[in-house]
Amino acid sequence: MTKTVLITGASSGFGKDAARLFQKNGWNVIASMRSPEKETELRGLDRLALVRLDVTDSASIEKAVQEGIARFGGIDALVNNAGFGSLGVLEAAPGEVIRQQFDVNVFGVIELIKAILPHMRSNKSGVIVNVTSMGGRIAFPFSTLYHATKYAVEGLSESLQYELEPLGIKVKIVEPGGYKTDFAGRSLATFGAGDLLDYQLAYDQFAGKVDTWPMSEHVWEVAEAIFEAASDGSERLRYPVGADAVQLLEARKEMDDLAIKNLIAAHL
Ligand SMILES: NC(=O)c1ccc[n+]([C@@H]2O[C@H](COP(=O)([O-])OP(=O)(O)OC[C@H]3O[C@@H](n4cnc5c(N)ncnc54)[C@H](OP(=O)(O)O)[C@@H]3O)[C@@H](O)[C@H]2O)c1
Repeated sequence: MTKTVLITGASSGFGKDAARLFQKNGWNVIASMRSPEKETELRGLDRLALVRLDVTDSASIEKAVQEGIARFGGIDALVNNAGFGSLGVLEAAPGEVIRQQFDVNVFGVIELIKAILPHMRSNKSGVIVNVTSMGGRIAFPFSTLYHATKYAVEGLSESLQYELEPLGIKVKIVEPGGYKTDFAGRSLATFGAGDLLDYQLAYDQFAGKVDTWPMSEHVWEVAEAIFEAASDGSERLRYPVGADAVQLLEARKEMDDLAIKNLIAAHL
């Protein structure tokens, strides 16, 4: 039986590469995005449906899930990939950025999972892959909101595996390091220090260093990790991907909070 995956945020970056990879490996793909009418690269691929889905719009989530099931007869895997970052001093964060950060990166994930679970429960099988970040287990300065959302999805996923495993449904977490997608461009809401002078110098120093943070061009590695997580049939929960993620998360295991803080402060 041909398997089917629903991917959020398939318009670019990891989501688009994952859509291509699943399709190449013989899966049916529901490539969901906010503006499918603009998509040209995925359009016309066999066994791939372009579907409108905004993770902050409940009606669009329900419709995309039902359309996907009707088109392919079922959904075997959900990839919660859509997300964006925010950068700046917490005290200066505009209310709408705070809410949007959680709406997209956390509440969107929860809504997708709730929309797909009745179907996976009735099939007694399914895999949910949540794309978090190395920043879901280690935190850098001036990224409080983003880390809060990614830590939230890590906790949610780790807990959810207990209630879903007895029902035949697996939960997976893919934790990328830094990759050159659109993330650091159009998917980054930067609000800086606002007019709060107490933070300005520290923020400017950080912003200068963060621009030199090495970002991998091997974006396809993340799609490969997503595919592995969705298809390996294992009970493995976490899939860190990228040399920076693997090294930092290993170091995190060995070091206490103060040592890791000093390591990060020395570099950022
Ligand atoms: N790149 C990195 O270094 C990195 C590292 C760790 C984790 N991540 C995570 O990886 C995931 C994918 O990011 P990426 O690097 O591939 O960046 P990207 O190329 O900018 O892709 C982000 C995707 O999220 C979608 N999106 C944003 N808001 C949405 C909404 N309300 N509803 C539906 N889709 C929405 C975007 O769609 P539109 O085209 O409609 O804007 C886009 O398809 C994110 O969760 C991000 O946090 C990225």
